[in-house]
Amino acid sequence: MTTAEQNPLRELSPQDLRAHAAEALTRARARSLVLTDVDDETLTTQHSKLMSPLVWDLAHIGSQEELWLVRDVGGREPVRGDLDEIYDAFLHARADRPSLPMLGPEDARGYVREVREKSLEILEKVPLSGRRLLADAFAFGMITQHEQQHDETMLATHQLRQGDPVLHAPNPPKSAGPLPSEVLVPGGPFQMGTSAEPWALDNERPAHETVVEAFFIDTTPVTNGAYTEFLDSGGYDDPQWWSEPGWAYRQDNGIVAPRFWKREIDGWWRTRFGVYERVPAAEPVVHVSFYEAEAYAKWAGRRLPTEPEWEKAARFDPASGRSRRFPWGDDEPREEHANLGQRHLRPAEVGAYPAGASPLGVHQLIGDVWEWTSSDFHGYPGFAAFPYREYSEVFFGPEYKVLRGGSFGTDAAAIRGTFRNWDYPIRRQIFSGFRCARDAGPGEID
Ligand SMILES: [Fe+2]
Repeated sequence: MTTAEQNPLRELSPQDLRAHAAEALTRARARSLVLTDVDDETLTTQHSKLMSPLVWDLAHIGSQEELWLVRDVGGREPVRGDLDEIYDAFLHARADRPSLPMLGPEDARGYVREVREKSLEILEKVPLSGRRLLADAFAFGMITQHEQQHDETMLATHQLRQGDPVLHAPNPPKSAGPLPSEVLVPGGPFQMGTSAEPWALDNERPAHETVVEAFFIDTTPVTNGAYTEFLDSGGYDDPQWWSEPGWAYRQDNGIVAPRFWKREIDGWWRTRFGVYERVPAAEPVVHVSFYEAEAYAKWAGRRLPTEPEWEKAARFDPASGRSRRFPWGDDEPREEHANLGQRHLRPAEVGAYPAGASPLGVHQLIGDVWEWTSSDFHGYPGFAAFPYREYSEVFFGPEYKVLRGGSFGTDAAAIRGTFRNWDYPIRRQIFSGFRCARDAGPGEID
């Protein structure tokens, strides 16, 4: 096993590193502004108890940026110290946020603009070394990812919102052709996590050797077409497929199909960003909870992959023994690799991204839909919280399941082969899907 990892930002001159960070910040902001370019009522309404009003997310993005880039990195005076408490996500549950004395639309836009001007000035001047927060412009990368994560959250708010469509995007590419249903991943050690990825967050670190047994994994995420067979065979009415907490959740909440689906006389339909449409059979299923994913897998005679299995399928290159940054290699994601960045407002058909396949031939691991794994969220051996415990450590434990790979709503700068997301097993307003796995039998490994 080779453990050499490259830091792709180390080759950049200080000037190019600053330009790289500024470009990432600017791209995140462009998307935030599209998502909040709606009338004041849409911006200030709480569209679901699960979400904040969009205008809260917008000013919260500015508040986090002020705390880390303006005050901590830049050593400057507060822009609006009076806002810290209102926009502290740990102090206020989403359901309670509408009652906060938050900034109105114009003030929120003005606030994030002012903070951003200062951050970019600081980025030009501050030495990008000396402190761990500054090396590789980490703090700027962390704040970029924070903004992009809120862009995905705001996209989920748009999906929950009632009314006519306000977001528009072209459709993703079609399938390039049929693929084998599953891929054998060899047993043995591989390098999981990272110690070199410059903008990796604390929970992705450090790189460590992990061993998995040989297993099979689905070549692509489970499609709507396959999922409909589970639905139509009565899968939601048969407790044998569900775990005990999963069945209780399904019963207590009257769950009968993926979120946003509705049965019509001619089959299943769904609402997608205000458009009512027939469920497309060839796209990965999205808006399913962990419990639904787990029940489908059992019905199909399979199981969900563990987190190490998912990462090995995504990163392991059997030719070199190395773990790649992305399934396709070490290059940053390009359009042909994956459905990312809200370029399209839906997952792409399975088989649509042959250039994004992993060396083992597993497709669409990055982009399209977040994939539930069977693993709880824990720190890796040698985990150290950075830069603050509330980023990840306070969430470690059995209440959260890990999701991998990002969705069409995730930006390229906020996803990589090592990136870990986590959520409650009941969650499905997120862009969550899954793929299945199974143990390899003795006669199947050569
Ligand atoms: Fe946040």
